[in-house]
Amino acid sequence: MTPLSRRALLAGAGAALAASPGPARADALSTSAGLHDHALRSGRFYGAAIDQTILATNPTYMAHVPVECGVVVSEAAFKWGRLRPAPELFYFAPADALMRYAEQHALALRGHTLVWHEDNPPWLAERLTSAAAAERLLTTHIRTVVRHFRGHVFQWDVVNEVLWLPDRQPLGLRDTLWLRALGPRYIDLAFHLCAETDPGAMRFINEFGLDYSWPDQQRKRAAMLSLLADLRHRGVPVQGLGMQAHLEAGVHALDQKELAQFCADVAALGLNIVITEMDVRDNRLPAAIPVRDAGVAAEGRAFLEVVLESPALLGVVTWGLSDLRTWLDEAWPRTDGLPQRPLPLDREMRRKPLWEAMAATFDAALPLQK
Ligand code: G3I
Repeated sequence: MTPLSRRALLAGAGAALAASPGPARADALSTSAGLHDHALRSGRFYGAAIDQTILATNPTYMAHVPVECGVVVSEAAFKWGRLRPAPELFYFAPADALMRYAEQHALALRGHTLVWHEDNPPWLAERLTSAAAAERLLTTHIRTVVRHFRGHVFQWDVVNEVLWLPDRQPLGLRDTLWLRALGPRYIDLAFHLCAETDPGAMRFINEFGLDYSWPDQQRKRAAMLSLLADLRHRGVPVQGLGMQAHLEAGVHALDQKELAQFCADVAALGLNIVITEMDVRDNRLPAAIPVRDAGVAAEGRAFLEVVLESPALLGVVTWGLSDLRTWLDEAWPRTDGLPQRPLPLDREMRRKPLWEAMAATFDAALPLQK
């Protein structure tokens, strides 16, 4: 596979993006440009992850999505745990609901994710009795799911969170049910199956913990670069790195130089980058909202101004649009019990300092294509 040119990179962003209207999409809710409009100024996209319950029950929240976003991704509906209630069953209804929403609002759809060690149905582990059985299950799943969404999903997170260095496996791979059943070739297999089934969707490896410069993350970045180089060298059809970017305000200093070098190293392998799950934890900041909002905005800006300098960076997705719903309140609750404020809009769907920082950073980004 040859390195993707900038033109191909934009084409890879899909027809849905090219066709997505500009500020006219922002209806009565807002007359000024949304984040996607700001991102589009440099040829990039902005999007958000959508929780299935919000989609089904909160029209106010959902009315803001097309104002701000050009891309959506489901927080959970595309995972095995939701799609595969029983071995012979594919249950697409919740994922289809987001697909229909995206089409109605001319939004592009990311697919997340085909292979993960979490959120799997209880029956899966019991069925992975041999390498042949595992290969059959993975093959059926990826072919069926990717075919179902062919022409609708423009980017797939083919594999998610495959690295975990403390597990001490070859290449820094995580010790998962798939690694145990198939060895490292489960990654190759997943990419080949996705490419064969929908060659038009761009294929990503998605990972967290690549952002800061403390030793664990430095080692993880090095392991990711080695893995990507190995996959490319062997012709495995990976096309991009998804950097989740679950950031944390007020804890680690972001080493912008090291982060820029990492993006350059990924680009030098001929790969694209998407920021796939950005949010900024504020549980180490004091309670005062102005202080938290300023800290979150500063962290987001420091990160984005580096990654947006990369010609490989196609777009930015936040893991949620409004603070009303964030996985961080469950996974990393504040000790004072206050809800976190990690996203661009507040709980009343008003734009926050992080929104302003993102819009300004998008505006300042160099265009991807003249
Ligand atoms: O679908 C059921 C619903 O029927 C039920 O009523 C409800 C009651 O709690 O649970 C629903 O399922 C939940 C699902 O989210 C949809 O809301 C699952 O229990 C819950 O485990 C699942 O959590 C998601 C988690 O991944 C596991 O899939 C989070 O929303 C989602 O934010 C999180 O996302 C991950 C990324 O995929 C990878 N990177 C880290 C990120 C945060 O953990």
